[in-house]
Amino acid sequence: MGIHEDDIAKVRVSADLVAIIGEHTTIKRSGRSWMARCPLHGERTPSLSVSAEKGVYHCFGCGRSGDAITFVQEMEKVDFVGAVESLAARCGIRLRYTDMDEGKKRGRKSDLLEAVAKAADFYHQRLLNATDAGAARGYLRSRGYDRDVVAKYKLGWAPDRPNALAEHLKITRDDFRDSGLGYLNSQGWPIDAFRARVMFPIADERGRFSGFGGRVLPDGEGPKYKNSSGRALVYDKSRLLYGLYTHRAGIVNEGEAIICEGYTDVIGFGRANILRAVATCGTALTEEHIQLLKRFSADRLVLAFDTDSAGLAAAERVYEWEQKFELDVYVADLAEGVDPDQVARQDPTELARAVQEAKPYMRFRMERALARKDLSSPEARARAAQNAVLVVSEHPNELVRDPYLLEISDRCRVEIATLRSLSAGFRSAVTTEQRATVRVADDARVADEPAVPAEDEAIRLVIDRPEFGAKLHTNLFGNGVRQEAFQALQDHGFAGAVEICSEPAAALLRKLAVDGFDADVDDVMAGLVRAVARRTLDGMVRGLRLYSDSDLGRVELSAALRWLQLELEKLDMGVQRQNVTEVLLPWLIQQVQWRTR
Ligand code: UTP
Ligand code: MN
Repeated sequence: MGIHEDDIAKVRVSADLVAIIGEHTTIKRSGRSWMARCPLHGERTPSLSVSAEKGVYHCFGCGRSGDAITFVQEMEKVDFVGAVESLAARCGIRLRYTDMDEGKKRGRKSDLLEAVAKAADFYHQRLLNATDAGAARGYLRSRGYDRDVVAKYKLGWAPDRPNALAEHLKITRDDFRDSGLGYLNSQGWPIDAFRARVMFPIADERGRFSGFGGRVLPDGEGPKYKNSSGRALVYDKSRLLYGLYTHRAGIVNEGEAIICEGYTDVIGFGRANILRAVATCGTALTEEHIQLLKRFSADRLVLAFDTDSAGLAAAERVYEWEQKFELDVYVADLAEGVDPDQVARQDPTELARAVQEAKPYMRFRMERALARKDLSSPEARARAAQNAVLVVSEHPNELVRDPYLLEISDRCRVEIATLRSLSAGFRSAVTTEQRATVRVADDARVADEPAVPAEDEAIRLVIDRPEFGAKLHTNLFGNGVRQEAFQALQDHGFAGAVEICSEPAAALLRKLAVDGFDADVDDVMAGLVRAVARRTLDGMVRGLRLYSDSDLGRVELSAALRWLQLELEKLDMGVQRQNVTEVLLPWLIQQVQWRTR
C-alpha cells in the first residue's frame, strides 16, 4: 500500500523543515529553535516553534504539531502520499511504490503535468525563435515587454496550425486530451486547443505548469482570451492564481497580496517592481483562492480592479472571508476604467501610490456611493444617504456598520436614528431576498431540462454564425445544458464543443446543427430577449414582495420593473426593434451576471 517505508524514512530525514516553513511565512532563529507566525491557523504574532535538528514543529497558538510531512499535508491540502511525493520531488528522492495501481494513478497526473510543462517550453521557444512568431514578438514589444519579462513569465506563442503542439509532443491521445492541451476531433485526431495566440503559462502554487491563458493578437479572431478547459485533469481554475508561484516571496515578505483581473495586470505590477500581484484565471474569486493566499501569509489583500466588475464575489462573501481567515481586504485607489497594466506603462509610481493608499473595502464602497453626488438639497442628500446605507448594511458586524452610519449621518445631514432604522430595514429585506434566491436556484437545478425554443434558436444561430456569440452571455440561458453548450461553442467552436461537452450538451449541439439555420437574426434575438426578460420580470416581482411599503429599495425596484414591462410591450408590438440589441440585451446581461455572482 502506497510508498515504500524506507523511502518515507529517507524523505523524513532529508526534508529541511525550516526552509519549507520559510516558504510560507517569515521564520527567525530564536535560541536553539526557530519562531514563525503560524501559517496553519494564521496569526499576527509568532507562536510556531520549530526544531531544525528534530525536524518537528509545535504551535502554541493552535496546538498543531508534526513534522515536514504533516506540515505539507496541511499546507498543500494533500494526503499523506501526496505530501511525501511533494517533499521527495524537492529533495530529489526517487520513490518506489508498493501498490502498482496507486503508483500508476499518480504517475498519470505527473505525466499530464509533464506534458503541460513541455508545452510551455515549446510555446516559449517558438516565441523566442520561430519566424512565424514575428508578429507576436512585435506585439509584445509594442506593450513594452523586453526579453527579461518574456523569460520571467515564460511567455510563448502558439503557432497558427491545427496540430503544431500535438506533433511536437508525441504523447498518447488520451494524455493530450486530458492535459487540456487539445482535443480529439471526430476522426480521433489530436487538435491543439490554442492557435495563433500569445501564451501565458499558469503555474500552481508549487510551480508546476497546469494550464494556459492565450491572447489573440490585436487583429486575431475569436474571444480575446482563451483559457485551458475545465475538463483538463490538471487544471482547476477555482484554485489557480496566475503569478502566485513567481511572486510568492514578495507576498510572504510583505504579508500582502494584490489581486488583479488579468494576466497582463500581474505582469504590469511586476514591471513596476511591485512583486506581489496575482490574478484569477478568467473566473470570480473563490474561497479556495483566498485560502491559498492565506497559506502564503497574506493577511492583507488589495483588490486592484473595479469592485463592481464580474471578477469579484459578492460583498457578503468578502466580509465572510475577512472574518473566517482573519484578513483585511482593501481596494486599490485606481481611477475608474483603467487597469493596472495601463497605469504601470504610463506611470509606475502612480501604481505604487494606488496600492499604498488602498482603502478598506467597506470605506471604498461607501465613499463611492457618496462620491460625485450633489448634496445641496434635502432630496439629493436623502438619495445619497440611501445608497451609502445600502452599501454599509451589507456588513455583518454592527460594530463596524455603526461608525460608517455616523459618517453618513454627518455628511448627508440626516439623523443617525433614521439611518440606523433604514439600515435595519435593508438588512432584513436582503436576508429574505437571499433565502428566496437560493430557493429559486435550487428549483432551477431540479427542473434543468425544459427546453425554451427561443434559446435553442439562439444556439443554432451561434453555431451557424459564431460572431453573434459575442453579443450574448452564458447566463442568458436558463438551464445548465444550454449554458454548457453555449460556453463551449464560444470557447472551442462547434467541432471542439462537441468533443468537449457532456453528452446531453453535445447531443443538443448536434441536434441543432443538423437542422441548419434559416431564421431571421433579428427575430431570434428578439425571441431570446423576450424569454430572458420574462424570467427576469418574474424574479423582480418576487423580489418586490420582500420589501415593505416604506422601504426605499422598493421604489427603485418597481421603477426598473415598470421600465422593463414597457420595453417588452414595445417589443411585442414590433416597435423600436433596435432597442433589443442596443439596450435590452446589454441590460439583461448585466442582470444575469449580477444574479450569479
Ligand atoms: P481583460 O479583457 O481586462 O483583458 O480581461 P486584460 O487582462 O486587460 O488584457 P489586455 O491588457 O487587454 O491584453 C481580464 C481577464 O479576464 C479573462 C482573462 O483571464 C483576462 O486576463 N478573460 C478576458 C477571458 O478569460 N476571456 C476573454 O475573452 C477576456
Ligand atoms: Mn489590460
